[in-house]
Amino acid sequence: MRPKHPSTRLVRSCVCAALLAFLLLPGCGQAPAPTTELSVYFTADTHGRLEPCGCFTGQFGGLTRLKTVFDAETSPFSLRLDVGDAVAGHADYDLIQYRYLLRAYESMRYDAVNLGAREACFSAAQLRQLQSSSPVPILSANVLDAATGKTLFPPFRIVTRNGWKIGIIGVVDPRGVPEPGAGLTIASMETTLAKLIPTVQPQTDLLILLAFTDEETLDRLANQFYETQIILGGRVRQPAQELKRSNRSLVYFVTNESRALGILRLKLSRGTAPVSAHNEIRLLHDKIPQDESIRDLARAYRKEVRTTRLRVDDPESASDDRIPGVRAVAQYVGTARCAECHKTTGAAWAKSGHAKAFATLLAREADADPNCVGCHTIGFGTPSGYQRKWAGAQLVDVGCESCHGPGSLHVRQREGDKSIDFRFRELGAGDCKKCHYGEFSRPFYWNEFWPPIQHGKEKLP
Ligand code: HEC
Ligand code: HEC
Ligand code: HEC
Ligand code: HEC
Repeated sequence: MRPKHPSTRLVRSCVCAALLAFLLLPGCGQAPAPTTELSVYFTADTHGRLEPCGCFTGQFGGLTRLKTVFDAETSPFSLRLDVGDAVAGHADYDLIQYRYLLRAYESMRYDAVNLGAREACFSAAQLRQLQSSSPVPILSANVLDAATGKTLFPPFRIVTRNGWKIGIIGVVDPRGVPEPGAGLTIASMETTLAKLIPTVQPQTDLLILLAFTDEETLDRLANQFYETQIILGGRVRQPAQELKRSNRSLVYFVTNESRALGILRLKLSRGTAPVSAHNEIRLLHDKIPQDESIRDLARAYRKEVRTTRLRVDDPESASDDRIPGVRAVAQYVGTARCAECHKTTGAAWAKSGHAKAFATLLAREADADPNCVGCHTIGFGTPSGYQRKWAGAQLVDVGCESCHGPGSLHVRQREGDKSIDFRFRELGAGDCKKCHYGEFSRPFYWNEFWPPIQHGKEKLP
């Protein structure tokens, strides 16, 4: 049936639009409630972990678990914030991964993601692209375009909860970024905030500062800028043991490679300082189920990185320590070559876990992820080491040369080339810990880890 009076329809759609605008923008035009509760959730140092790497069982963390935790949270008024270091590094594949991390934050309804020290190592061009495509608001008040001196991202944003206007500012400590990305310069946090706060503060009922910096500096900022009522960090070694009131600010911080979530439940009353009703660093332990939608993002990242040509795929540019034009002295030859002479050791190795390290990655479809390949192959990232285009055909697993180093000179010498005088260096626990550390291993003890792979006593002809 067609409406008789087109004007009625017009009026009705206007009312609808107004109603819709009202529903979509709660707080718009709404007077701030005299008191309200606000739950502030924050993360830092996610370290690229969409999901835990799986290097040992019982691992904590991963955005897969964070999503499960958020899905169970029921606070009517909340904020979700990331203080920085979402990525594990600033290689081209880390940038690819950042896009998936941002999508994960989007699906967890993050309100703001601040640039940390690692993000500040991407180039200005890379960050500019992110700025136009990020599905969540990225903030940074002091990471600047070196050419123009202007910010690349909004320095702050204001969100409304229960009528309260909450300002969120993001900064990163330049001392944590000795080499900012190409085309970037990082301004002093203090100078930036001294200029910014007087313009932001009058527009807000509550001011939150995301500061990717250490404990002492968080304190110092609290003393210098009393207007920031909540200060969240940071570039710290451990999550906060307690919530601290410093000057007029509440200071809290979190870290830990995606294993910890900071929670602050605030009581806000107009005209008085915010009070914390509850604060907690929640560990994302291994009993928390992992969310499938975030797992899908991790899979999509691995798929994209598999089919993308990366810098590390160009062996000439791959090595950090390579002098241009000079060939590395010794090259990798592969474990099978070593086992031709070292038969007993070769047989013992073949039975060890090290000999199936690449199969482990294959089973997880992580065999082309540069964040995994390095410790599960031989010499990845060096000119004669494993390359992704070999797709597992050679130099896979934790082979003899993963520990002893490239062996071509040793082989030539032992085959009779008298011109070569080469000796492998002596190894010890420190050489194991370049792979067996942190999130990548159960706690490493020589006396526990060496016996299963013990070798080297065989008599050779
Ligand atoms: C820094 C080195 C390092 C990196 C990087 C690394 N791993 Fe590992 N991985 C290890 C070590 C060491 C172990 C053995 C740990 C132990 O026995 O406690 C291991 C074990 C594993 C295991 C368990 C094998 C088993 O059967 O018990 C899986 C699965 C695994 N890694 C997957 C990955 C994935 C996926 C990635 C990339 C996201 C990755 N690893 C990145 C060092 C690394
Ligand atoms: C052509 C035979 C041959 C091959 C191939 C070979 N080795 Fe050896 N290797 C020897 C002999 C012989 C010795 C001396 C053994 C002795 O002194 O008892 C030795 C000694 C060593 C030593 C003791 C330290 C040193 O520098 O002498 C290490 C470690 C070693 N080999 C590792 C390897 C590795 C790793 C590979 C593969 C890259 C390899 N070997 C390949 C024959 C070989
Ligand atoms: C290049 C990286 C790397 C280095 C160096 C390394 N490991 Fe491992 N290690 C691994 C990986 C990866 C695994 C898991 C392999 C799998 O199951 O997929 C592992 C597993 C193990 C395991 C459990 C599997 C088994 O065979 O019992 C032991 C024990 C172990 N490593 C001991 C050592 C010791 C001792 C050293 C030093 C002498 C060492 N590792 C050095 C990467 C490394
Ligand atoms: C996970 C690391 C690792 C792997 C893999 C490994 N080694 Fe070793 N290897 C060591 C360490 C550590 C020592 C010294 C142990 C000690 O102090 O007793 C050693 C000792 C040796 C020695 C005796 C060195 C000497 O000076 O007498 C030989 C020979 C040797 N390895 C050969 C091999 C060969 C061949 C392979 C591969 C089949 C291999 N290793 C794989 C870590 C490794």
